[in-house]
Amino acid sequence: MSLITSRGLFMSDKESPSNESIPKEHREQRLMAFQMETPMMQIESNDYHDFVFRDGRLVGEFEQMYQKSREVPWHQDKDIARIDCRVALEMLATRGPYGRIIEIGCGLGYLADMISKKLGTNNVLGADISATAVSKAKVLFPRLDFTVLDITCPLNLSDSFDLIVLRGCFWYLFPQIEQVIENIVKLTKPNGHVMIAQNFPPLTGDFIGKETIPSPDSLLERFKPHYDIVMDVRLDDRQVKGGNDFWLIFLGRKKAL
Ligand SMILES: C[S@@+](CC[C@H](N)C(=O)[O-])C[C@H]1O[C@@H](n2cnc3c(N)ncnc32)[C@H](O)[C@@H]1O
Repeated sequence: MSLITSRGLFMSDKESPSNESIPKEHREQRLMAFQMETPMMQIESNDYHDFVFRDGRLVGEFEQMYQKSREVPWHQDKDIARIDCRVALEMLATRGPYGRIIEIGCGLGYLADMISKKLGTNNVLGADISATAVSKAKVLFPRLDFTVLDITCPLNLSDSFDLIVLRGCFWYLFPQIEQVIENIVKLTKPNGHVMIAQNFPPLTGDFIGKETIPSPDSLLERFKPHYDIVMDVRLDDRQVKGGNDFWLIFLGRKKAL
């Protein structure tokens, strides 16, 4: 893997412009200009892991990952057999029907498709930060709608949904977790539901994002001010073929204001 250039946020000291010779009032302006002119971090690899984490840091170059990865990132096409997906779908089915559904961080759309089939509706919108993932998902699942969305940015949407689903996304969203949760809450209709399915590595070890989300309970607690938790399932799938994680899967109903 080789890194050709770097964008502002992940600049090394060598790449970073020196501020010492610049009057203070111009520094911020210069940094902004530098960031705008500097191309995205270009990563030459066909291993999807290289676009996600590097040297113990979140890289998060998902657009390049979907363009360049040799294999299907996270083996999303195989997840249909994974027990956490089956449990999540059963949980959803016990509470439905829902009206408008959005899956955020939908990737190639496999889970959106499973939700659509399980709940017997095509009213499922898949949303992902990667335009390439979205166009591939449109080809794979033409019955469904897909759109590009960065859930870490402040959203100014008039749109809202009866069910919002995020699976396996928080290790890529944790630096902006407050904004992400604010967006999820805004996107949920009154009395609407949220389903979070999140994998956790062994909590005794170090992992990226641990300072922000040290445990399944800590993630759940962040949602409790906004949602009544109607189902909470913990699943250790490490003994299951293909499984390697501990899962928190919960369904919450938005609290009345
Ligand atoms: C582990 S994959 C999960 C894919 C799908 N949810 C599944 O369970 O098969 C995480 C997805 O989150 C997307 N993602 C990462 N950051 C995002 C952001 N800020 N906004 C929206 N999607 C994002 C990535 O592009 C990737 O497709």
